[in-house]
Amino acid sequence: MNPLRLASKTTIAHAIARLVAAGAITTSLTTTGFVTLAAAQSFDEKFSVCLACHGASGRSETANVPTIAAQQSQYVVIQLYMFRQGLRKADPMNDMAKDLSDAELQQFADAIAKLPAAPAAPDADPGRMQRGAALVNQHRCNFCHNKDFSGNESVPRLAGQREDYLLKSLREYKAAARTEYQPVMAEVVPPLKDADLVELAYYIAHFKP
Ligand code: HEC
Ligand code: HEC
Repeated sequence: MNPLRLASKTTIAHAIARLVAAGAITTSLTTTGFVTLAAAQSFDEKFSVCLACHGASGRSETANVPTIAAQQSQYVVIQLYMFRQGLRKADPMNDMAKDLSDAELQQFADAIAKLPAAPAAPDADPGRMQRGAALVNQHRCNFCHNKDFSGNESVPRLAGQREDYLLKSLREYKAAARTEYQPVMAEVVPPLKDADLVELAYYIAHFKP
């Protein structure tokens, strides 16, 4: 069962059908074997440009630049598609994605999904972890994002993500400043106060599966 079916009128199947119709996805989402050797050389060069910002092995060491290691490939394809089409506005990424072909979106997504997941942030404060866990249970964050926050298909992995980027994302959803492919987080954030967002970002960044 896909949890999004419960949360949204649009099913993931419909969302993917729309992406396929729009030409964003040209191959099965689980296909990884279509990269030729010649393409791989230039692909590796392009990928190293991505990792210059997103960190070696996709573990970002830069404030507000997300860690992408082990991110769900389906989520990445959708986000890169939204960056390319200008639907999700974020300065470097709209430029980075604008000339990428549909096949490249999928190649980047597959390469990103294969990077080993980043570890949790160290030195979690037990009191804050307890408050964060209560908020997660209350708002069922780990229902869609998975018990271990590894994500699922178009629902992003949150485990191992930078705390500053998590908080920035939550605040953007709260301010309706970040477009989603489906308005899922827009339904989640309204009851949350800014102080809750701070605790949730802390908890998830320090969460050890
Ligand atoms: C100049 C720095 C820079 C470069 C180069 C760059 N990125 Fe990004 N990327 C960012 C920033 C900053 C964000 C966060 C945007 C936001 O705040 O919404 C981001 C966001 C993303 C996201 C969304 C992550 C999420 O969790 O939603 C993906 C996927 C991504 N980049 C992939 C790539 C790929 C693939 C490349 C290479 C083609 C690339 N990036 C190159 C800075 C960069
Ligand atoms: C009904 C399913 C659902 C629930 C419940 C849910 N999420 Fe999400 N979340 C999603 C989806 C889908 C996305 C991707 C939306 C988009 O395209 O921006 C997302 C995106 C995010 C992001 C952005 C990640 C990134 O890499 O940019 C964060 C942070 C996040 N959720 C945190 C939470 C927290 C904290 C909670 C609980 C308060 C929560 N989510 C509850 C489905 C859910």
